[in-house]
Amino acid sequence: MSTEKVEIFDTTLRDGEQVPGCKLDTKQKLVIAERLDELGVDIIEAGFPISSPGDFQSVNEISKLVKNARVCGLTRAVKKDIEVAAAALKAAKRPRIHTGIGTSDSHIRYKFNATQDEIIERAIAAVSYAKTFVEDVEFYAEDAGRTDNEFLAKVCEAVVSAGATVLNIPDTTGYCLPEEYGAKMRYLKENVKGIHKATLSCHCHNDLGLATANSIEGVIHGARQIECTINGLGERAGNTALEEVVMVLRQHPYLNLDTNINTRLLYDTSQMVSHLMGMPVQPNKAIVGANAFAHSSGIHQDGVIKQRETYEIIDPAEVGVTESSIVLTARSGRAALAYRAKKVGYELTKVQLDTVYVEFLKFADRKKEIEDNDIHEIISKTDIGIKAVS
Ligand code: KIV
Ligand code: ZN
Repeated sequence: MSTEKVEIFDTTLRDGEQVPGCKLDTKQKLVIAERLDELGVDIIEAGFPISSPGDFQSVNEISKLVKNARVCGLTRAVKKDIEVAAAALKAAKRPRIHTGIGTSDSHIRYKFNATQDEIIERAIAAVSYAKTFVEDVEFYAEDAGRTDNEFLAKVCEAVVSAGATVLNIPDTTGYCLPEEYGAKMRYLKENVKGIHKATLSCHCHNDLGLATANSIEGVIHGARQIECTINGLGERAGNTALEEVVMVLRQHPYLNLDTNINTRLLYDTSQMVSHLMGMPVQPNKAIVGANAFAHSSGIHQDGVIKQRETYEIIDPAEVGVTESSIVLTARSGRAALAYRAKKVGYELTKVQLDTVYVEFLKFADRKKEIEDNDIHEIISKTDIGIKAVS
């Protein structure tokens, strides 16, 4: 069975930038867009052009800059939004307009005070109007996660007839369970007439910590695009993390699904976005966190020193991390101490190691983490004449 491609739609510059405190100026957005293009994302959602003159300018400049990826602008199902997005995307080699409307009962009733039929009419009108500007039109059914599947299929069928090329099925509130989200995709695949003319897309939020699992279930059940952000940034608890879905697919080749991402740029891209947005990456973040390849307990360290795969499923180099780290704490064993001591120049014999280890434990009980210069101090304290080999 040949591997099918899952397109990566990056929305760091739109959904990700909606995070309080993560606002970027146009220059910073251009730096990130260029990197995303290099990383190999298929679509860059560059912003929401009607939302502010700054966002219009960013989408406009990114459209001129990006060489490979499609550039996308978000709109509501509103004529003026669509006109402004089309103008912002004018210079893009491959422009996409992303338009849509809420489809769940609560959105229809409280946001729009409308009926289901009126929502379908507005959805068709938005897609048809966007098609007068660009060929590639993605439709989002906001709060699709809580939308009745039968009605959702009706909306999807209507917008595909109007020319939508991509159907975005957002779990806007991060409500769905993976099985439920996967079943939604399968239902649409089986019940929307003309579905072969459009690509189904996952857009999952992380309110229950399920965004990655839901996106993976989505592609297992027929979606071929995932919307995600670097470091999982996004509204509230965030969006699906790009680095996570990419590595899940890479680590499980029997799914026969893969992306075009150059994974060796993942760590550096994560750091770049974190610095530009002023949003630190949590140390235990999967794939790109500072502790993702760090080992601190004696049992794990001994295993990793003997054979990396005992406690690591990913080679750190594959995601751009130089090497696994052996962190020295009071929970570390002799193997880790010998390993780190060797790195700073000491070849300890078994007898020397026993003596140094006693001193090390006293030191480590007082200090959270032992650094390289502490190792020199610990060894000099043993007073048994151990010399570093230069
Ligand atoms: O979460 C969501 O529903 C969205 C849409 C605007 C695509 O971000
Ligand atoms: Zn979203």
